[in-house]
Amino acid sequence: MTISKIRLKSTKKAGSNLWWWTQIFPGKYGVNIRRLSGLVFLILFILCSPLEAAEESPVNLAADIQAGKYLFQASGGCGCHTDTKSNGAFLAGGRPIKTPFGTFYGTNITPDPETGIGNWSDEDFIRAMTQGLSPEGNHYFPVFPYTSFQRIRREDLLALKTYLFSIPPVHQKNLTHDLILPFGRQAALMFWKNFVWSPQPFKSNPELTESWNRGAYLTQALAHCGECHTPRNLLGTLKSDMHFAGSKDGPEGELASNITPDKKSGIGSWSKVDISYFLQTGMKPDGDDVQGLMGEVIEFGYQYLLDEDLDALAEYLLSLPPISNELQANKSEKLKEEDY
Ligand code: HEC
Repeated sequence: MTISKIRLKSTKKAGSNLWWWTQIFPGKYGVNIRRLSGLVFLILFILCSPLEAAEESPVNLAADIQAGKYLFQASGGCGCHTDTKSNGAFLAGGRPIKTPFGTFYGTNITPDPETGIGNWSDEDFIRAMTQGLSPEGNHYFPVFPYTSFQRIRREDLLALKTYLFSIPPVHQKNLTHDLILPFGRQAALMFWKNFVWSPQPFKSNPELTESWNRGAYLTQALAHCGECHTPRNLLGTLKSDMHFAGSKDGPEGELASNITPDKKSGIGSWSKVDISYFLQTGMKPDGDDVQGLMGEVIEFGYQYLLDEDLDALAEYLLSLPPISNELQANKSEKLKEEDY
């Protein structure tokens, strides 16, 4: 719509610009000017039409899908929506995710109109990703990381939707979450969203490099690293003073390590190359292989990122304030025990 508006505007402008014609052919030729301008309109209309068609041509659609797929991979590949262990269909939901609040089941995000998101408009998708609201107005639990995704730029969200709508639709009903407190959760979530959660939009820092800003955007918005690596308070909100300092209660009860550049308890001894190599292969500098959810986000998503994006991510991570948090220490003690 915006495109056609712009085009209309430019057509009008072209029409009014015919003043030069009257300047060159004044007097009796003035009578024909209207007809001429009509002709010019017609020519412009014909010229513009194929352009409009080209906008939706398969070539451009394919480019949009490709761009959306890359963003999908940057977000870790949405593995929570595929029940890989039971050979479930791609993004058709049903995958259990254990959390301190109970077991959630990833939802069907294929474009099936009845059981997936096939009927969602662009605005429905944007509202879900940025406000955690379903098209029916239900609040989602923040196990769906809309708290990070709300920082994704609108054009990127739309590309992501284009990609999701390009995958095969799968008819598979969503499972009901198995929660510890199944009642009153909408009211609780509404309270949490209105009084506890304070969404911060993504802000770039013009004083830092372009790659730092790219890394910050990837980390904070798409890759949602903080959702697992930042500990939460009792109300389930990420503790901002412990940004990336590691969490014992990551999803699936996994311990997500301290990834601040603290030398002892974090990844302060890792180089930029170590980090990007890790995000590409799951291999740590000490030769250890990554496990669990981190392995999944790498396998389904991060490994496909371009080298410059992985480097940008590493540059951003290493620029964070180091926070000493002994989670890592516990883990290396465990490893030492195993060594003996
Ligand atoms: C879905 C949850 C989740 C997300 C998202 C996630 N991680 Fe992890 N990450 C983990 C878990 C769990 C571990 C521990 C796995 C292990 O040690 O085998 C881990 C381990 C790591 C390690 C290894 C640290 C060490 O000392 O062994 C690094 C580095 C890391 N993550 C960086 C990142 C970055 C960077 C991002 C975002 C681009 C990210 N993670 C996103 C869950 C996650």
